[in-house]
Amino acid sequence: MLTQEERAAISEGCDSSPSARAAAPHALGAVQASRGWISDESLSDIAEFLHMTPAELDSIATFYNRIYRSPVGRHVILLCDSVSCWIMDYEYLLNHLLTKLGISGFGETTKDGMFTLLPSACLGACDHAPAMMVDRELFGDLTRQSIDTIIDQYRIKDGDRRTAQSPLATGRKEQ
Ligand code: FES
Repeated sequence: MLTQEERAAISEGCDSSPSARAAAPHALGAVQASRGWISDESLSDIAEFLHMTPAELDSIATFYNRIYRSPVGRHVILLCDSVSCWIMDYEYLLNHLLTKLGISGFGETTKDGMFTLLPSACLGACDHAPAMMVDRELFGDLTRQSIDTIIDQYRIKDGDRRTAQSPLATGRKEQ
């Protein structure tokens, strides 16, 4: 069942869209923002809200590679595999990234649930190929070293966030 906040976010998108179909990407994005991915149940709830069939909505969801129809990690890495990146050592960097993350291929999530790696068509940064995105952040001119730095920085940031949220870090004493 959609939450009130999700319904409000979807309605906001509907107000500025000419049809339910046009509002669908926004609706999927709004629910994904709160749940991390779009399950079959979420898809049915959104479709009902938009007066569409689940099949119609699913065809839109699968068109967008940033709408996730299965669970993903806290951060999604999109590695561009289009031509400019391909010729700039894509395969070499892909292998390095797989080793760094400890996974064996696209679609997999790291053991700690932090990263999911997915392939992507051109990210619009061909002049800085090879390129990848982590969530909404674009990184170009990738090298093995810069990949290591990017991954390490995300791990440090997430570690800091978790530490900041712990009762000890906020000065609260455990009862
Ligand atoms: S081909 Fe990779 S960013 Fe365009």
